[in-house]
Amino acid sequence: MAKQNIYDNDRFYEYFKNQRMNDINFNDVIESPIITEMLPPLEGKRVLDIGCGMGQHAKQYASKGALSVLGIDISEKMLGYANENNSADNITYRQMVFEDLDQLNERFDVITSSLAFDYVEDFSKLMKTIFDLLDENGVCVFSMSHPISTAYDGVYDRYTRTAEGERLYANLHNYGIEGVRHIHWIVDDYEVYHRKISTLINDIANAGFIIEECQESKLPEEIIKKHPDVFGGVIHQPDFIFFRCRK
Ligand SMILES: C[S@@+](CC[C@H](N)C(=O)[O-])C[C@H]1O[C@@H](n2cnc3c(N)ncnc32)[C@H](O)[C@@H]1O
Repeated sequence: MAKQNIYDNDRFYEYFKNQRMNDINFNDVIESPIITEMLPPLEGKRVLDIGCGMGQHAKQYASKGALSVLGIDISEKMLGYANENNSADNITYRQMVFEDLDQLNERFDVITSSLAFDYVEDFSKLMKTIFDLLDENGVCVFSMSHPISTAYDGVYDRYTRTAEGERLYANLHNYGIEGVRHIHWIVDDYEVYHRKISTLINDIANAGFIIEECQESKLPEEIIKKHPDVFGGVIHQPDFIFFRCRK
C-alpha cells in the first residue's frame, strides 16, 4: 500500500470536498478545460482514470460516449462520493493504488489522470506501467502539479509581494532537489513529490512514449482580473503541467 492516504483523513476530505464544490476552484476553472481540450475523441473507447477522486472527470468521459470508464483511487471516501454522485452504467470505480496498477488484467485505449501523480513515488515505473496497459496507438493524457509549483517548502509565502500585498514574483525553493516534501496544506505533514521538468520528460520518453503535447496552466485575462486574489498567481507561476503521450 502507498504511504499516504490523506483524502481519507476527515479534516482533509471535508476541506478538499468543499473547495472542489466551490464554483471558483482550480480544478474546474484551470485544470478541467485544458485536459478536456487535450483528450482524443472518447466515443467507443476503454478509458482508465487514475486517481479518479470524486468521479467528476469519469462522469464527463462516460457522457462523452466512452465504452467503459474504470476509475481507480486509494481513498474510500473519495470513491464513496463518486459512487453516490457520479455513477453511470459504463463506469466502474475500484479501490486500488497506483503502485498496483501493473496487476490490472485489462487494456485501455485512453488513460487519463488529473492532479494525482504528485503522490507517486516512482514516476518512472508508473509511466512504464501505463505504457503496458495501453493498446497499440493508445494515448495517455494527464495533469499534475507543475515542478515550479512543487519547488516549495510550505513555510514562506509562494510570492514576494509589494507592501500592499500585490504579487511581484514567485519564489522557488530547492528546485534542483527532487523527492518527497512534507508541507502544511490543510493538515500538517502533507506529502507530495517534487521532480524537475527534465525528469518528467525523460521518464515519459524512456517508457517509450512520444510526447504529442505539453501545456501549462493558463487562464483568460478576464478571469484573472475578476478573481485576482485566487488566480493572480497564474501569470507568475504555472500551478499545473499537462502532457499528451502516444504509445
Ligand atoms: C487532487 S485529487 C484529484 C481527484 C480527481 N482526479 C479530480 O480531478 O478531482 C488526487 C486523488 O489522488 C488519489 N491518490 C493519492 N494517492 C494515491 C495512490 N497511491 N493510489 C491511488 N490514488 C491515489 C487521492 O485519493 C485523490 O482522490
